[in-house]
Parts: sequence; structure tokens; C-alpha cells
Amino acid sequence: MTDRLRVARPPVAELHVHLEGTLEPAFIIETAGENGIDLPWRSLEHLEAQYDFTDLQSFLDLLYVNLEVLRDADDFAAVTHRYLARASAAGVRHAEIFFDIQAHTRRGIPAETVIGGIRSALDRGLTDHGMTTKLIMSFWRDLPPGDAMDALAHVLDAGLPIDGIGLDSAEVGYPPSLFVEVYRMARDAGLHVVAHAGEEGPAEYVREALDLLHVERVDHGIRSLEDPDLVERLVRDRVPLTVCPLSNVRLRTVDTMADHPLPRMLELGLLVSVNSDDPAYFGGYLDANFDAVVTQFGLDAGAVEQLARNSVDSAFLDPVGRARLH
Ligand code: ADE
Ligand code: ZN
Repeated sequence: MTDRLRVARPPVAELHVHLEGTLEPAFIIETAGENGIDLPWRSLEHLEAQYDFTDLQSFLDLLYVNLEVLRDADDFAAVTHRYLARASAAGVRHAEIFFDIQAHTRRGIPAETVIGGIRSALDRGLTDHGMTTKLIMSFWRDLPPGDAMDALAHVLDAGLPIDGIGLDSAEVGYPPSLFVEVYRMARDAGLHVVAHAGEEGPAEYVREALDLLHVERVDHGIRSLEDPDLVERLVRDRVPLTVCPLSNVRLRTVDTMADHPLPRMLELGLLVSVNSDDPAYFGGYLDANFDAVVTQFGLDAGAVEQLARNSVDSAFLDPVGRARLH
């Protein structure tokens, strides 16, 4: 019996998953064929041989090539639909999903196509799996902030349905402070705001995300542990941190799973949840991430319950939606 089955998991929310990171290798090859896209991979095996990462950038280089297979609204709907089915099987009852807008618009794909395709599948996810969802439009922090401003202004002007914004891609050298205006515009429009910080970047970026962007949640945030005053603040203010254990090992932000700070974060009283980040790239979906930490750290049912409860408490749910999962 697997640890996943041994430790029954209560209803859980996934709050940190990139839609483009759910593209499975077979889907990439198949969709490239259908859309006439010339990928650098000779075969499925050749593509699968690329999944050995040395750091965040080495992974992003592969992710950004592969996502180019997505072209029309049906492609965006298909990948979303597949994620929701797989996440539902993993026990996810509510998902808040990132997509990288500039990864698509820079290739000439309209935001309307991207968001329309994803939304149609999210609507179906509620009917098919009873899964509630939120959609978070993420910006590449290594592109000029003006580019993010333009993308956000367009989505707002066009009234396209997103629930929040995020910040991702290469972190070091691209501090949150660059994006103050973008985040102000998003908050003024009533959107939720989150940002990746403290993944490869320093604890100072977590502080900036809180102080300057006024984020409601920090994605990763594991390097916050290097700053005790920051930890105290995160605990006091119950700032959610969406932690991604398999991602951190595969991108070598921690050496091995045994070195992962998740147990310490729980002990410190941080509001941490477990998430899959880019499950098709890092060895598994939410169930695999739970399995990995339960096995590595011998987490008991109480700890698993705490992580699941944290995920629901960290979600952008209204009281009725939250009560459904508690
Ligand atoms: N884009 C997809 N996954 C990411 C991660 N873990 N960090 C930054 N950008 C990302
Ligand atoms: Zn991420």
C-alpha cells in the first residue's frame, strides 16, 4: 500500500500550478504534430531525455520551447481539461491555476484565445469533477515591466475573466520592486495578487513582495527561513506560502528531499501548503508531492491534515466555498 493510501488526505486545494507545466511529453509531441510545429526533439524519447535540470533557468529553457505547441483555444482547453482530470484523481477539490500570458501573446496568440480556451475547460471542470477554480495571469519578471503593464491593461480593457495576477520566470536580478505599478493597477481593478519570491532569490525579495506589491500569498518563499525577523512576520500575519517540494529538489534549490525545509516550516507555525508547480516536469502531481514528503519525513495524519487545511485557508475562496472543503 502506498503512503498516499495509508495516510488518508482530507479535501485539499492546489494553489501553485502552472498550466504550461502540466504539458506531458506525449501531449507535447502529439500536439506539435497536429499543429505542424517544428520542435527540436526527434522523438518522445529525445524529449524525455531533456528533463534533467541544474537550476531554474535550465528548466525554463525547456518549458518555454515546449509550450509553443499550444496554438488555438482548443489546445488551451485540452491541456486545462487534462490537468483538472488528473488533479481531481489526486484529490484536489479546488485549484488556482497560473498561465504565462506573455509566453503566448509574444507568439501572436491573442489573450482572448488563451483565456477563452482555459475558461471553457474550467467551467467544464466544475460540472465534470465538482472542482472550483481560480485563474491567475502571471507575468515573466525577466521581461520589461512595461510589457506586463500593457498585457494587464489589455485584459482589463477587454474584460477578460481572470481572478488574479502573479509573477514568475527567472527570479535572481528581477526583484519585485520592478513591478510596483503593475501590481497597483491589478489591486485597483480588484484582482488578487500573488508573486513567486524566495525560490532562488533572497529573503529580501519576499519582503519586497509584501511591502511593495502587497501580495496576499507568496509562491515558494522557502528562502524566507534565512531571515528570522521575516519568519516572525510571516507567522504573525498568517501569510500563505505555497511550497512545491518535488520542484525544489528537481531545480536544486534544495539538495535532496531530506534537506527540504517543509517540516521546519510547519514547526515554526508558517501557513504552508503543498503544491506541484510544474507536475509534468518534476515527477508528479499533488498526490506525488504529498507522497514524497510523507515518506521522507514520516508525517502523520495530523500533519497531513494541517497541510490540507492550510491549503484551504490559503485559497481565494469565499466563506461558502471554504466551508465546503473544511
Ligand atoms: N514558471 C514555471 N514554474 C516556475 C517556477 N518554479 N519558478 C519560476 N517560474 C516558473
Ligand atoms: Zn511556480
